Amino acid sequence: MAKASAKITTSSTAEYFSKNLQQVGFSSSVKAVLTTLKEAVDNALDACEEHDILPEVEIWVEKLGSGSLKNSDKIRIRVLDNGPGIDPEDIPKVFGEYLASSKFGRGRCSRGQQGIGISAATTWAQLTNATGARVVSKTKNMRKAVSCVVEVDIKNNRGNLKVKETIDWDRPNGTSVEFVIDGRIQLNGEAGLLNYLSGTTLVNPHLTLHYNLPTATNEEGAKAMERTTVERVSNVIPAIPDATEPHPHTMKLGEFIAHSHLFGRVKVSAWLKKGFSRVHEGTLKELVTIGGVKKGVLDKNVDAMNETEFKDLFTAIQNIPLMAPSTKSVLSIGEEALSKSIGRLGAVDFFSVVTRKPTICDFKPVEVEVAIARLEDKSIESESSVQVLRFANRVPLQFDKAACAIVQAIQTVNWRAYGLGQPKDALPLGPYIVAVSVVSPFIKFKNASKETVDASDELVEEIRRALIQAGQRLSKHIRREHKANELEEKIRHIEQFGPILVEGLARITQAPDSRKKKAEEGLLKLLGREARDAEAQLKDAESVLSAHQAKTKGAGTVVEGSDGVPVTIEADDDVIDVDTLVKGTGKEAAKKASKSSGGSAKGAPAKAPAKGAKASSGKKPKIIVSKKEKSKQAEA
Ligand SMILES: Nc1ncnc2c1ncn2[C@@H]1O[C@H](COP(=O)(O)OP(=O)(O)OP(=O)(O)O)[C@@H](O)[C@H]1O
Ligand SMILES: [Mg+2]
Repeated sequence: MAKASAKITTSSTAEYFSKNLQQVGFSSSVKAVLTTLKEAVDNALDACEEHDILPEVEIWVEKLGSGSLKNSDKIRIRVLDNGPGIDPEDIPKVFGEYLASSKFGRGRCSRGQQGIGISAATTWAQLTNATGARVVSKTKNMRKAVSCVVEVDIKNNRGNLKVKETIDWDRPNGTSVEFVIDGRIQLNGEAGLLNYLSGTTLVNPHLTLHYNLPTATNEEGAKAMERTTVERVSNVIPAIPDATEPHPHTMKLGEFIAHSHLFGRVKVSAWLKKGFSRVHEGTLKELVTIGGVKKGVLDKNVDAMNETEFKDLFTAIQNIPLMAPSTKSVLSIGEEALSKSIGRLGAVDFFSVVTRKPTICDFKPVEVEVAIARLEDKSIESESSVQVLRFANRVPLQFDKAACAIVQAIQTVNWRAYGLGQPKDALPLGPYIVAVSVVSPFIKFKNASKETVDASDELVEEIRRALIQAGQRLSKHIRREHKANELEEKIRHIEQFGPILVEGLARITQAPDSRKKKAEEGLLKLLGREARDAEAQLKDAESVLSAHQAKTKGAGTVVEGSDGVPVTIEADDDVIDVDTLVKGTGKEAAKKASKSSGGSAKGAPAKAPAKGAKASSGKKPKIIVSKKEKSKQAEA
């Protein structure tokens, strides 16, 4: 007898995700902590930006004991923001319902896109510690705050509120969300919390962040909590540009049909013009004349279209040449803000930032920005790879880096040409941080946990170009540094050996004092020529510098960004040159440099002597100068 066919059942979205949390970032104890934190911080920043609030976020990540899973700890994660707060009736949806989002498919450059993130964190807390998310929230219209625990009703994909009460809260508006989960705190390394936090502050110059982590050690030698504050370096809230409609050439047939349902009872022609970017009256005509679409189809109501008609229309529109989508919807951090923010990475003595113009890759608008910073701490192994910071829509990416478009682009650049070591087809070496940010309303991730940007040829090429621009600035700086160091070495040799040589020669030849004096003068002349050569080189360098300063209206702090927009430079190769030259060439240069720049550029974080510059040793270098220079100095 034939077996009865198996019973078909359906499951809710929550059921699916609760069984597949590894797909959305909960695949290890370390990742569970990072993902939970990241989802809550992303939401806080998105909410603040959307409501024109300068974000001030405080986080706590604390170990409470051992976890319920093997090899895991019980971790408390809390994120408190000064955002708009959440309407009490939305709280169960936000934290307990999958695919509930204010951002889904909007085509804007927000960090969140799917409506999965924070509900997945609630589910993880529920599965590992039997409690959901503890939420306190207040909008500015509320006198008291709502405090509650939200749990995911996994069978029905719904949020359930528990222990709901109203409480006094000493802030006008904001949200606090707390999870107790199984996880493991990893502070250092690429996947570490500190890396995540420094990345977050780098690409969010307008964020003030307080973080409480077990970084201190108490009297018993155990880990103790320590509060650190990173102040904002910019008061400009990034304006997230309006969304652009999707471009028909970026859609699949299913998406095309689903898109039509958003428009209800409108004519196909109206839907096409309203619902897509780059579709105009002329396009509709071409659909009929070139694409072979019947005029009657365009006049039909969208909801009266059958599948074949949709399919024919879709094929026709794919074959019509359309303008690439507009790039207006992308957002950039900006060279100025990045320059200010870079000091938050630690002590750096050189950096270069590049903001590319928005462009189209794979028919989607995208903007790439690159910052390369050289760390002051040269004790870092010069044989170890540079530290790579990857960002997608201003969110740090910390896992699965090999497949990422950003890493692939870095590896394809020939860094040896810019003075860095680099094994074949690998990351460059040395005490550098290479940060790459990709912003797009339609970032294509390789997976739902948003850890890797898909490496399409066009995107890799665009990132490569940005890296090459930044690399060229870096190499210019390294070359100048080498030159200044050589000059310094020469002068030091002259100082050291000149007088000894004269003394020795006079002794050997038992020359009378008059002869010794003559020899001294002769040698001085000889050395003077050397010194003059050196000074000539210095003067050349200085005149280039002053010409540049004159060009930039004397202030020496405004230069042209890569996109032609003036940018205030906080520390770049032009500014550091002053330092390098001063340190490399003694009194005269110091005198000139202090005259021309007031010592150092405004707010420049890069103050350390250039690598190898030794003139700042306690002993004052004796400089041999030409008579002309001597008289100038005497005048001064
Ligand atoms: N701290 C907060 N303040 C104000 N609104 C918030 C906050 N956290 C979440 N929300 C609201 O809840 C919605 C759902 O958040 P959730 O993280 O689940 O999805 P998302 O951020 O839209 O997308 P993603 O799944 O990619 O993170 C958000 O779209 C936002 O409207
Ligand atoms: Mg989110």
